[in-house]
Amino acid sequence: MNHRPWAKLLLAASGLTFAAAMPTDVRAETTASTPADHRISFDQYSFLIDGKRTYIWSGEVHPYRLPSPDLWPDVFQKMKAAGFNTASIYFSWGYHSPRDGQYDFSGIRNVDKLLDDARDAGIYVIARPGPYINAEVDSGGFPLWMTEKPVKNRSPDPAYLKLADQWMTQIDRVLARHQLTNGRGTVIAYQVENEYYNGSPAGRDYMQHLEDKARADGITVPLVGNHDATFVSGKGAVQVSGSDYYPQGFDCSHPTQWKPAPDLAANHFAGEPLFTAEFQGGAFDPWGGPGYPKCAQLINDRFANVFYKENIAAGATAQNFYMLFGGTSWGWQAIPQNYTSYDYGAAITEARQFDPKYYEDKRIGYFLHAVAPITKTDALAPDRLDNPVLVDRARINPDTGTQFHLVRHGDTTASTVETTHLSLALKEGKFDIPQQPGTAIAIDGRDSKLLLADYMLGTTRMDYSTSELMTNAAIGGRDIAVLYGRHGSDGETLLDYAAKPKVTVLSGNVTQHWGKDGLRLDYRHDGLARVLVDGGQRPLLLLIGDDQATQRVWRQDTPQGAVLLLGSHLLRSAHYTDGTLALTGDGDSDANAELFAGDATKVTWNGQPLAAAHTASGSLAVSLPVPQPVTLPQLDHWTQRAGAPEIARGFNDSQWRVANRTTTSSVTKPGTLPVLFADDYGFHTGNTWYRGHFTVDATHTAPTGLKLAVKSGGVAGAFSVWFNGHFLGSVTRNELGAFGFPSAMLVPGDNVVSVLTVDMGHEEDYNSTGENRTARGIVSAEPLGADAKAITWRLQGALVDESPQRGPYNFGGLYGERQGWPLKPGPAADWQSATLPSDSAQPGVTWYRTNIQLSLPKGQDTSLGLEITDPPGRHYRATIFVNGWQMGNYVAELGPQHRFPIPNGVIDPHGNNDITIAVWKTDATPGGLGTVSLINFGSYTSPVDVGAIR
Ligand code: GAL
Repeated sequence: MNHRPWAKLLLAASGLTFAAAMPTDVRAETTASTPADHRISFDQYSFLIDGKRTYIWSGEVHPYRLPSPDLWPDVFQKMKAAGFNTASIYFSWGYHSPRDGQYDFSGIRNVDKLLDDARDAGIYVIARPGPYINAEVDSGGFPLWMTEKPVKNRSPDPAYLKLADQWMTQIDRVLARHQLTNGRGTVIAYQVENEYYNGSPAGRDYMQHLEDKARADGITVPLVGNHDATFVSGKGAVQVSGSDYYPQGFDCSHPTQWKPAPDLAANHFAGEPLFTAEFQGGAFDPWGGPGYPKCAQLINDRFANVFYKENIAAGATAQNFYMLFGGTSWGWQAIPQNYTSYDYGAAITEARQFDPKYYEDKRIGYFLHAVAPITKTDALAPDRLDNPVLVDRARINPDTGTQFHLVRHGDTTASTVETTHLSLALKEGKFDIPQQPGTAIAIDGRDSKLLLADYMLGTTRMDYSTSELMTNAAIGGRDIAVLYGRHGSDGETLLDYAAKPKVTVLSGNVTQHWGKDGLRLDYRHDGLARVLVDGGQRPLLLLIGDDQATQRVWRQDTPQGAVLLLGSHLLRSAHYTDGTLALTGDGDSDANAELFAGDATKVTWNGQPLAAAHTASGSLAVSLPVPQPVTLPQLDHWTQRAGAPEIARGFNDSQWRVANRTTTSSVTKPGTLPVLFADDYGFHTGNTWYRGHFTVDATHTAPTGLKLAVKSGGVAGAFSVWFNGHFLGSVTRNELGAFGFPSAMLVPGDNVVSVLTVDMGHEEDYNSTGENRTARGIVSAEPLGADAKAITWRLQGALVDESPQRGPYNFGGLYGERQGWPLKPGPAADWQSATLPSDSAQPGVTWYRTNIQLSLPKGQDTSLGLEITDPPGRHYRATIFVNGWQMGNYVAELGPQHRFPIPNGVIDPHGNNDITIAVWKTDATPGGLGTVSLINFGSYTSPVDVGAIR
């Protein structure tokens, strides 16, 4: 099993405690609860935790995309409730490091809390600290200050390694104390680098360096990769070589165009479990793209159904989906190609709601959790189908003989509806299924069925079922199994009994056939049927649902056994204490629920006792609280304030940085000197202002204009130019512009050209070419009709330490940001009343603010957002702050994002909230900021209670 030297080492190490390496506070905690140390190992079949084979059903979440620590448990609990047992988590170096040598792990950056929250929700963690993470995050996770370090990123360049080590020392210290091997931790694996495919000697040196560093920092869990075959062996090899797959690509504009499912078996390496470090769970969307609902359609529940099950059939026992909850690239964290939302069309939406894919993930996740034999299977020769369009991909557990048959279209993109019969060679003989005359196994277009045979439903053998199994468990002295199929489809299940059992159909339309093969139940999937079969070692209750019915089946496991709840929006947790079964969860407008649980004298829901009535199914009928209606205030009291004094000729810029550099850290070659790149002067986010001065007098020839090249980072960029306070124009979707200075505007003495630029984020550095150091701001400024040096420049951008808890990406360099208006708007008298939508024709920057008191229903989790709606044809950009947190960048003419989810915590649903919006109008046609409204993405009764973070 442990075929590699390192694995032996790990086993040997597993007996150790790591107290000596831990800071005192953690050691004290650990001793108090005397936790047992855990072991993590693996072989060619699966990962094993404490020797128990474990299917890793994992979803990717990014803490830096949810700046509200009280909501982290919400996401982890929603994952757990869908059968996920693992979260794969990138840690973004730049998010924790505002300056070279400075690190912040407090507040919204508290990784200790994050990992405790994961552990408390029963979620393991695959830690992915980079140093480079890609992830559509600014610089691929490299800190902003790395734009000033001309090192060879992602290589053995000693200058780079020194910086990478600086980060690893910090993050590894936190990760090490949260390893599962330390008893109270939850980290089960550590990914080294990200999609690093450089297997050259230098690439191997680099990987080996990172691995040695991780080990030296006390990382003992398996080192894993997403580098395909690159680091399977040789220098720099990881222990488990995962692979990344995005089979549908990222074109959400054609959401019904499918590409074939990949065959993962090609990346199943000897001695390692088959692991998808990233498998497509959605897609990102560019500025001007079709919007995330289309990405959710491209990677929909049918995609999950066909592709994730196909991975199971290929032998994968560790699957991670990128993303499961995408969140928000708040502040200036997005890369230039993407807008603020990182919803990703994922199973849990940016606003923490469930996409239909969530329920498909859950059906499969519950299956994998319940059916232990899936963790050790070999390929089995496929069985014969009587429909050539369909195929069977089969596996068998060599110990239990349990068989898995994936019935799907040979062409996974096909959308025809097909039917077939399958002949199975099982322990009890050969079966052509289904046996019911006139019925068949129906496979919809873009659908598949993972059928189970020779499987023990607790104490009863299920020979086969043409329904899929969602879950099964021993509960309250009975075996309970949930089977399902598409609404209206036929199903049959053959159960093995020595003598004819007593069959009670409690509800639904189910017929029984007793014969030499056992008990066959025939039915059509329609709502939820219930059949009690008494005759085996334990009675067996079958709950047979259609796909819709399975959505409201929830399972939680406790040391006292499993709990099933039929009903509610979400079951978050279940605990038995002193005879009380304490449940937590979320309720919607349907109060009815039914509980299958072990003995309990009392049941509580979010701490309140539930009245429970016994049902004929042996369950408890309960009634859950329903949510109160939510009414949101209109945002109709706005004030405004002018926000671009830099335009005025007389503005005092004497404190600004003088552009005097002749060299740059950038990979961009300056078009003119001095260097004007914002990053070289320490301005890394959002807007940077430039003011160019020249003198008009007898001795100087005044330039007649200015040719500019400005890099914002692509299609969503812009720059605007004023001369002596007069608007000359803006450039959007282009980097170049030439502006004449009308002679009537020239004045004797100092003349000023003001240029407003924006950095839409730094490029990632996928190819290790220093792309994160692509210039932002003015790259060339060529005076027309005058000497190249005729204009001298000063510049001013974001102030880095403006709000340490909000961190390095929150603010850009607009005047109002430098003055801190989103946090301290100053005297009310400075703001004039305003009406939205604005019909202003004035180019430049205007700030809007409103203050609202919210008192939304307590005990209810309401997910809020802001929406901007505009008549078409407006040319402006808006930067949205809620209580000082920059939660969105909007570009009216590009879109597609109009709705900006604001996590509770950032917004206070029970308090006072400041909404501040900086509007940069890029043209002089009438029409500024449109209508801004508060929106509700969903509201459920819930234990989620979020503290405001200010
Ligand atoms: C992967 C990469 C991720 C992310 C993803 C696309 O190749 O590892 O970090 O960029 O693509 O969303």
